Amino acid sequence: MTSIKHVGVVGAGQMGRGITEVCARAGLRVTLCDVTEDRARAGLTGVADSLLKAEKRGALTSEGRAHALAGITVAADLSRLSEADLVIEAAVEDEQAKTALFRQLDEVVTNPAAVLASNTSSIPIARLAAATGRPESVIGLHFFNPVPVMPLVEIIPSLHTSKATELRVRAFADETLGKKAIVTQDRAGFVVNSLLVPYLLAAVRMVSSGTATAEDIDTGMTAGCAHPMGPLRLADLIGLDTVAAIGEALYEEYREPLYAPPPLLRRMVESGLLGRKSGQGFFNYQ
Ligand code: CAA
Repeated sequence: MTSIKHVGVVGAGQMGRGITEVCARAGLRVTLCDVTEDRARAGLTGVADSLLKAEKRGALTSEGRAHALAGITVAADLSRLSEADLVIEAAVEDEQAKTALFRQLDEVVTNPAAVLASNTSSIPIARLAAATGRPESVIGLHFFNPVPVMPLVEIIPSLHTSKATELRVRAFADETLGKKAIVTQDRAGFVVNSLLVPYLLAAVRMVSSGTATAEDIDTGMTAGCAHPMGPLRLADLIGLDTVAAIGEALYEEYREPLYAPPPLLRRMVESGLLGRKSGQGFFNYQ
């Protein structure tokens, strides 16, 4: 089994940054790509800040931080991933955008042993694999936010993914990154979001109907069920646009009303209230 030494990460948003950080901390060479060099550089700045925080709290030595940073390069041109062993797509949760990226990756990644993975939270892997001429090498590799903190990774083989690809990615997640991998069938939402997103949407409906304040709904779940964070703060952390997009994908797959994003969530997204990343969601972060 060829080992994974060079990882390409496509998308320098919060998930792409977290994935870049954990890969670099595991001693891998990482090429972080976004549509412009400025966006990729902003991603690298975010990773550098996070590494500095990790050093300050004693989770990383200064040599470890320097080594991780030295392993990261940024690019706006996907052809820089031609020799990558593993490419992890972490772009916006939009099926058309992701399909277009997989089509491009299929053209530019010339390493025949490369694995093309998606960090999608809800889009069926089979649809992304169908955009390539190598569906046996395409797989879902879904990380959780904040990536440096959350141990879980979902591994999602499609009906065409080879066993060799699945085993290689599992070894990468468990052994190279030290994460906890679970394998799930290729169904929208996989395991975690199929359970989590209806819960988050139910909390949004409670705000809409005036059942309780956002603060009290969250306190209900932190103080009553020992969750580390309430559903509305968690939705703000994930990003309300992402929560809405996952809800849409689940609704499209299952047609169950509990997956449909409620009007309040849609209006907040349309108004640019995206949660922590925009400074305002159900709570204020400015
Ligand atoms: N990046 C790196 N490290 C971070 C971090 C970040 N963004 N946020 C927190 N941390 C670290 C802190 O530095 C701290 O580390 P040490 O223990 O080494 O000092 C540790 O995490 C705990 O942080 P804090 O004490 O500041 O805060 P906390 O105890 O409130 O924990 C939390 C913060 C880890 C986010 C916690 O509230 C939590 O676990 N929340 C739930 C998160 C969750 O459910 N994530 C899954 C979302 S679903 C998803 O991602 C999938 C999807 O497809 C939508």
